[in-house]
Amino acid sequence: MEVIFSGIQPSGTLTLGNYLGALKQFVELQDDYECYFCIVDEHAITVPQNRLELRKNIRSLAALYLASGIDPKKATLFIQSEVPAHTQLGWIMQSISYIGELERMTQFKDKSQGKEAVSSALLTYPPLMAADILLYQTNIVPVGDDQKQHLELTRDLAQRFNNRYNEVFTIPEIRIPKVGARIMSLQDPTKKMSKSDTNERGFISMLDEPKRIEKKIKSAVTDSDGVVKYDKENKPGISNLLTIYSSCTGESIESLEAKYEGKGYGEFKQDVANAVIQVLQPIQERYKELIDSDMLDDILDEGAEKAAYVANKTLRKAKKAMGLGRVKKKKK
Ligand code: TYM
Repeated sequence: MEVIFSGIQPSGTLTLGNYLGALKQFVELQDDYECYFCIVDEHAITVPQNRLELRKNIRSLAALYLASGIDPKKATLFIQSEVPAHTQLGWIMQSISYIGELERMTQFKDKSQGKEAVSSALLTYPPLMAADILLYQTNIVPVGDDQKQHLELTRDLAQRFNNRYNEVFTIPEIRIPKVGARIMSLQDPTKKMSKSDTNERGFISMLDEPKRIEKKIKSAVTDSDGVVKYDKENKPGISNLLTIYSSCTGESIESLEAKYEGKGYGEFKQDVANAVIQVLQPIQERYKELIDSDMLDDILDEGAEKAAYVANKTLRKAKKAMGLGRVKKKKK
């Protein structure tokens, strides 16, 4: 069976962008692949985190994975820092990465721009991400559009390692959803919807109450020509809402355009809000049941154990290929 790996950072409550770009695909894929889904807390500490907030966000993310439909019988769900092989292979991956290629990552440039104190981990984040993926001999990585560059680097590093030492790693393919790969901010539809946006009206949190969702969508920035049509260049706001609507309902963008022909933005926005609420409300209900349950801990314990078993096997191969440590003699 082919292997899937993906991760999400526990750095704040997930947005509708995280759901439509990533989580929703994960749920669809878990029936047909051997899946590993990770809470990448070691990635989150590349920028300063409050200890208690981080702990809360880790648990909340685990509950959101499950509430969205990840089934622990089908997929392995675990916390990155509970499987030490990730940072161990991360170090090995750093040793074959070049500073120049890491400095070229747009996410590094965005996050470090204008900041005085930038952690070195922010720069060496992509080799850790490569390690996450490569440890499981992953075939496919489902992600949103913003992770493309990191995935390309992962492929380069895997190939570099295999050529230089030995064929240890599977070269992974990226998988981006046809609709919803890049959900934009509701307040500035030329920017990606992000949980770190300082303007709360720019994003919908997966745990926003229905009234709040409705309010945010109704105040989404659009344009003044009153036509519901997909045109990313000239109508980024309406195009984003069409994408959200289509992704939530499965109805194609063309058929939505036809449905709203001659109708105003008011009715359209109300229906977009309803579609989002219909997707998020059941997830929120399940979330409430899960967040304080012991079941959550059992699932994460079991997940870490299963993940570590597979990850350690690859780590041993990588260390051996590079000449690290000793070759253990067989006892007489
Ligand atoms: P993160 O935590 O920023 O986002 C998690 C997932 O959500 C997707 N995403 C979006 N998709 C559509 N529209 C948006 N506005 C939007 N915002 C976020 C992201 O593309 C991602 O799929 N580096 C990764 C985490 C990571 C990882 C990995 C992913 C660490 N190791 C290994 C895959 C495999 C990140 O920061 O994602």
